[in-house]
Amino acid sequence: MGPSTRPLISRKAIDQAVCRLGDQINTDFAREPLTLVIVLKGAVFFGADLARVLRMPLTMEFIRAQSYRGDQSSGQVIFRRLSDPIIADRNVLIVEDILDTGRTTAALFEDLRRQAPARLALCTLLDKPEGRKVASEADYTGFQIPNYFVIGYGLDYNERYRELPAIHIMEEFPPSADVNRHEGR
Ligand code: IMP
Ligand code: MG
Repeated sequence: MGPSTRPLISRKAIDQAVCRLGDQINTDFAREPLTLVIVLKGAVFFGADLARVLRMPLTMEFIRAQSYRGDQSSGQVIFRRLSDPIIADRNVLIVEDILDTGRTTAALFEDLRRQAPARLALCTLLDKPEGRKVASEADYTGFQIPNYFVIGYGLDYNERYRELPAIHIMEEFPPSADVNRHEGR
């Protein structure tokens, strides 16, 4: 039994947003070298597409973020690196799939700032401003959306549906999935 979904953002609209964001970032960072810190797993497609419209010398780092919300009020975010990102004195752009409570981003900013990058900015494909629990703002946003749960183009539900080319609203959740949607992403 497949999930009940409704299309929200088409492939074409995603491509247009990637180009628009790329133009802005190319302008703002000029020809200065830039390090993309792509947050796994959700931002992998977006990061790959964005990287290919950027025109400055790029390096790419990947970081895995996992949030645990057993205690709602003290949501805790854990990072795992594939390798130590070298970002001291570099311009750094964090690439996220979606900004919701803001906890992942806030923790990531704190973590990366310790390594003293020259400049630290955030680009997110999606933003759900209604979900915000801690102050967090993106410098570059693809789409602001209402408080839907969305899947596709990297975004998962319980590790599924990342491969869908476009973004869909998940309207019903499988009854078996007594899953904490915020765990293990
Ligand atoms: P937050 O801003 O710390 O709450 O977390 C952002 C992360 O939550 C994202 O990187 C996603 O992994 C996950 N997330 C939030 N909303 C959704 C959604 O609608 N679909 C899929 N994942 C989501
Ligand atoms: Mg994620």
